[in-house]
Amino acid sequence: MDDMQISEDCVGYLTKHYSGAEDILRNVGYRQLRNFPRHKYTNTMDHSIRVACVNLYLADRFHVSEESAVKVGLLHDFCLVDYYEEPHLDKSERHPGIYAFYHPVEAVENAEGICELTETEKKAIKSHMFPLAVRIPTSRLGWLLTISDKIVATYESFYGIRAFHRAMISAGNRAVVRIAA
Ligand SMILES: [Fe+2]
Ligand SMILES: [Fe+2]
Repeated sequence: MDDMQISEDCVGYLTKHYSGAEDILRNVGYRQLRNFPRHKYTNTMDHSIRVACVNLYLADRFHVSEESAVKVGLLHDFCLVDYYEEPHLDKSERHPGIYAFYHPVEAVENAEGICELTETEKKAIKSHMFPLAVRIPTSRLGWLLTISDKIVATYESFYGIRAFHRAMISAGNRAVVRIAA
C-alpha cells in the first residue's frame, strides 16, 4: 500500500450510498489530491470526502439523490493545482486564471475523465464557489454542495478536524467516517 491510504470504513460507507465512490477513491489521478493542501489543517482529498459526507447527511432535506450528493462532494475540487504554492512560482509557471474561478471548471473536466456526470451535477460543481465566484447555483444539488463546502471549509480553516467530527456527531450525523487508515 502507498502512504495515501484511506480507511476501508470510508470507502465502504460512501460506496454503499453511491456505487461509483470506490472507483473514484481508488483512482490514481484522484488520489493525487492527497498531495494538495486545503485550508489550514487538511488536504484536498480528505476535504472532499468530508464534503461528500455532509452532502449525504443533508441529501434528504434537499430532496436530492444520495448518489449525486456523494459524487459531487468527492469531485467538486478535483483540480491538481496547489494554490498555496502558486504565488511563489515564476509568473510563466503560474496558472493564468484565478483559482476560485477556474478550479470548479477544471474539476468537472477532470471528473469527466473518470466517471459520467449529469448536466445538473456538472453545474453544481461549477457553481460551488458561490458567492466568492459569481456562478449562482441553479439546482437543489448546487445549493447543497455550496452550503456543505462552506460548512466543512469553516471547520477546517478555523476550528479543526476534531471539532468538525464533534459537531457532526452531536448533530446525529452518522456519515462521519475514519478517513485515514
Ligand atoms: Fe472549491
Ligand atoms: Fe471544497
